[in-house]
Amino acid sequence: MKINAGRHNMQDFTYVNKTEIHFGHDRIQSELRPVLERFGKRVLLTYGGGSIKKNGLYDQVKDLLGGFDIFELSGIAPNPKIDSVREGQKIAKAENVDVILAVGGGSVIDASKVIGSAKFYEGDPWDLVINPSLRKEIDQVPVVDILTLAATGTEMNYGSVISNPETNQKLGTYGPKSPAVSFEDPELTYSVSKWQTAAGAIDIMSHLFEQYFDNAANKDVQDGLKEGIMRADIKWADTALQEPENYDARANLMWASTMALNGIVGLGNENGWTVHPIEHEVSAYYDITHGVGLGILTPRWMQYVLSAETAPKFAQYGRNVWHLTGDDDMTVAKAAIQKTYDWIKSLDVPMTLPEVGIDSDEHFQAMAESAVKVGQLDKHAYVSLQPSDVVKIFEAS
Ligand code: NZQ
Ligand code: ZN
Repeated sequence: MKINAGRHNMQDFTYVNKTEIHFGHDRIQSELRPVLERFGKRVLLTYGGGSIKKNGLYDQVKDLLGGFDIFELSGIAPNPKIDSVREGQKIAKAENVDVILAVGGGSVIDASKVIGSAKFYEGDPWDLVINPSLRKEIDQVPVVDILTLAATGTEMNYGSVISNPETNQKLGTYGPKSPAVSFEDPELTYSVSKWQTAAGAIDIMSHLFEQYFDNAANKDVQDGLKEGIMRADIKWADTALQEPENYDARANLMWASTMALNGIVGLGNENGWTVHPIEHEVSAYYDITHGVGLGILTPRWMQYVLSAETAPKFAQYGRNVWHLTGDDDMTVAKAAIQKTYDWIKSLDVPMTLPEVGIDSDEHFQAMAESAVKVGQLDKHAYVSLQPSDVVKIFEAS
């Protein structure tokens, strides 16, 4: 384990994000048609396992789109599988679609972005996941989305995470375009289960942690943004669990999802992410809910990397997010990690790997090696980790 305590200046950056956000109550009613008309008449409608049929959104969308040529891809699963992308590629090519309308959570939107690239690719879309640079060379069908779950930030970023169950891989890929337009109506998240609400809130928090614990120093603007979003996430996650139809809670969580991962709060950063690459291995092997996996691993990672060198940053987090007091950084840092653990537990999610069905260490070594390789944890992490370190984090979980 090596601390990359470079403590460098804020890094140079260029920031462009062309996603148009339409936030608020029932904006699709009058705006979905004109938005889609900008891109064309041939629409690939993508969605998941049926939540949009249960809550009425599917019928509303279909009613709004009279006169459009609509082709459907349903059944996109959580931790979206490459087979759904393959199916979408076939439809997108055969029907020469102009635009993809993704209605759902991160899984539906992630898969839709890759389908958007796959329309212009002749080979197997898994190539576009393992070799994302291919996507930079080809066009991407515009994606318009109606977000139904606050968590991933995919509604305003370039990323997708796609799973291949045959190879036990779950990998990130980045396209040339973020969604063209995202509709964010907090009321559409009223029907999200407690489990997914909690997982979403943890995912948002983790995105902020991944970008907060970084060795570029004196990023006061970015740190303040992240601390503010963390406080909002903590405050409103609990309310959303108690009162699923509380508009302010759902609205704050939805905007937190977008702001935590549209690139803004990470500008000037030096390091890559750590807990996400580790969690993606767990989801790749065991298909667990992403946010729940993060909730289990995050406090263990924090404990593992806490040292005299990292304590000041953890103490800053504790003071500014949890309002902890005291002059001794190590004491405040330890209390902040405990607060993090207690908050996740209060959301009523499993806190150990055995509780999500992982009661053997048989894959720990392979998962650790892959996490280090994919996430470059030995080179670019906040605190460098070797596979043996990641195995210890699994064992502590
Ligand atoms: O499939 P349906 O029936 O729609 O049900 C979904 C699914 O079962 C349900 N759901 C969604 N909206 C609902 C709803 N149920 C009731 N009411 C609603 N309004 O929730 C379940 C989970 O959906 P999913 O889309 O999988 O959740 P989430 O938005 O958390 O996305 C998770 C995926 O995104 C990836 C994760 O790894 C995971 O594969 N991530 C994507 C990122 C990105 N593109 O930037 C970054 C993240 O770190 C993350 O890795
Ligand atoms: Zn995430």
